[in-house]
Amino acid sequence: MSIQIAEGIYDVGVTDWNIRDFHGYSTHQGTSYNAYLILDEKIVLVDTVKKEFSGRLLDNIAEIVDPKKIDMIISNHTEMDHSGGLPRVMHRIGEKKPIVCSRMGQKNLSRHFSQPWEYRPVKNGDTLSLGKRTLTFMETRMVHWPDSMFTYLKEDEILFSSDGFGQHFASFDKFDDQVGEAIMPHAKKYFANILLLYAPLILKVIDNVVRMGLPIKMICPDHGVIWRSNPGKIIDAYARWSRQETKSKAVIIYDTMWHSTEEMALAIASGIRESGADAVPMHLRTSHRSDVMTEILEAGAVVIGSPTLNNGLYPTISDMMTYMKGLKPKNKVAAAFGSYGWSGEAVKLINQEFEAMNMTMIDDGLKIQYVPTKEHLQACRDYGLKIGKALGA
Ligand code: FEO
Repeated sequence: MSIQIAEGIYDVGVTDWNIRDFHGYSTHQGTSYNAYLILDEKIVLVDTVKKEFSGRLLDNIAEIVDPKKIDMIISNHTEMDHSGGLPRVMHRIGEKKPIVCSRMGQKNLSRHFSQPWEYRPVKNGDTLSLGKRTLTFMETRMVHWPDSMFTYLKEDEILFSSDGFGQHFASFDKFDDQVGEAIMPHAKKYFANILLLYAPLILKVIDNVVRMGLPIKMICPDHGVIWRSNPGKIIDAYARWSRQETKSKAVIIYDTMWHSTEEMALAIASGIRESGADAVPMHLRTSHRSDVMTEILEAGAVVIGSPTLNNGLYPTISDMMTYMKGLKPKNKVAAAFGSYGWSGEAVKLINQEFEAMNMTMIDDGLKIQYVPTKEHLQACRDYGLKIGKALGA
């Protein structure tokens, strides 16, 4: 189904209601692959969709115009959820139609598809007249691919922002004002799991947009809802998340074999609460790594607990720390804990990972043997108070 979003401009993308795992990110509410059709003297398609949805994309386009009438495609970003449909779309509209993309986009599309397509590479600030309308291209390298760019439609004041400002969210409602505040946690999760690593570059992109003084009436991302009620709100949220401002809050991430590390986690969380700071305990076999990462985004403290298993970390803890390390969260204090039977390496191994992430550890950590006693649990609560103090509570 296509949706008109402005005069002569349509979202012809596809909703993926059933996806629950997007390359390791838990998409509890599905997603959408948005693509936009602009009708002017030239007819332009902005981005495509995942390969398996390309038939539905073409059906949506055909509701508006014969796909053969499309004059060119704009590829804002090569990742396959937006380019996988290109071969089928190109076959349908005509293999000689140009693909407008960044220079790196040309390289990446060639590497992905090995097709003799006609590319029209553009660089930052280049413009393209469609007749009555003009497009301006803004390179946004490494936000989040080397070839990423935004496309700005001057006359309608629309920013086609590729993955930027996106959310994995499937809905019949296609605009932010139709969903309301419930959309922000999805936008935040998207930022925390896809874009956090590029936070310094995002601040530069936002600065660039502000400096260019482009009026923005609508932001059209490639996933989720379109921001039309107050685009400045999501831009401000991106600036805040990119600065990695933190709250007086600790995320206590743990796994457990016989509940000892869990008892420690919950006692530490109580101590943190008692200090006046917020505490969010998250068991890694009931909380997905991408939901944990979302909580970490604005937390001032990351507290990790693992039992020692075969002289090492519990596997879910290794998974979480590898994932978190890649996203490079900043401005956190860190603390480690765990129970053990006879060797007890886990706390030391967690600290090594914290060091690799340049986190500020509050001390060497807390470990106890076998099952915590009443005294041990009091020590855990005291440890929570210490973490709360490090948070400034
Ligand atoms: Fe939605 Fe980077 O692809």
